[in-house]
Amino acid sequence: MAKLVLYYVHPGNKYSHANKLMFAAARGIDGITTLDLYAEYPRFDIDIDREQQRLLDHDVVLFQFPMFWYSPPSLLKEWQDLVLEHGFAYGAGGTELDGKHMMLALTAAGNDEAYAVDGYQHYPIRTFLTPLERTAGLCHMQFAAPYVLYGALRAPDDGRLNTHVTGYRQLLEAIRDDRYDFATAIERDIVEVADIPTLVRT
Ligand SMILES: Cc1cc2nc3c(=O)[nH]c(=O)nc-3n(C[C@H](O)[C@H](O)[C@H](O)COP(=O)(O)O)c2cc1C
Repeated sequence: MAKLVLYYVHPGNKYSHANKLMFAAARGIDGITTLDLYAEYPRFDIDIDREQQRLLDHDVVLFQFPMFWYSPPSLLKEWQDLVLEHGFAYGAGGTELDGKHMMLALTAAGNDEAYAVDGYQHYPIRTFLTPLERTAGLCHMQFAAPYVLYGALRAPDDGRLNTHVTGYRQLLEAIRDDRYDFATAIERDIVEVADIPTLVRT
């Protein structure tokens, strides 16, 4: 069994449709650790020792968030700045995260055609995630392809949100049970719900 910690990072949970449902589904899964980062640290006073211990206690670190201004919400950046210390996560003696996986689950209002070089957003979504990808690399972590919901504002009404949430539950259970094919997922740009059956072993 892999030890999975899921950080939910959304500053406006009460206005959320997509992430709120995803997080509720995650919270219902036995054997994984889930936490709401803004609820724990509404004043950004992150407990570095507690967070580093959480990382030590888990093999897979998953950040779930809505895309805000082409980035994760700012508390995740503060968490990175404080928790991923030299000598712990990187640099001389900084080997505590070696071999662990980092994964993202994110929602974006833009649709998939928009997130392309010739699209409205000018870049693929992975381009906006390169700081986290390189952070994982610097910390000797494997960066797995993000689980993405495009067009998130329309998803509750066009029927895609429920499917996405079901896929998320399957994904998290598979990670927990060592049935998620990280080796294949790492080769992908992103994972969408339609990809789940090919990445989850039964
Ligand atoms: C402050 C703010 C900034 C946003 N920036 C982006 C953005 O850069 N790209 C994008 O595709 N959507 C952007 N959005 C839309 C959110 O990603 C979208 O509302 C969210 O993914 C929906 O998930 P939720 O229902 O869980 O809140 C932004 C929304 C807000 C409120």
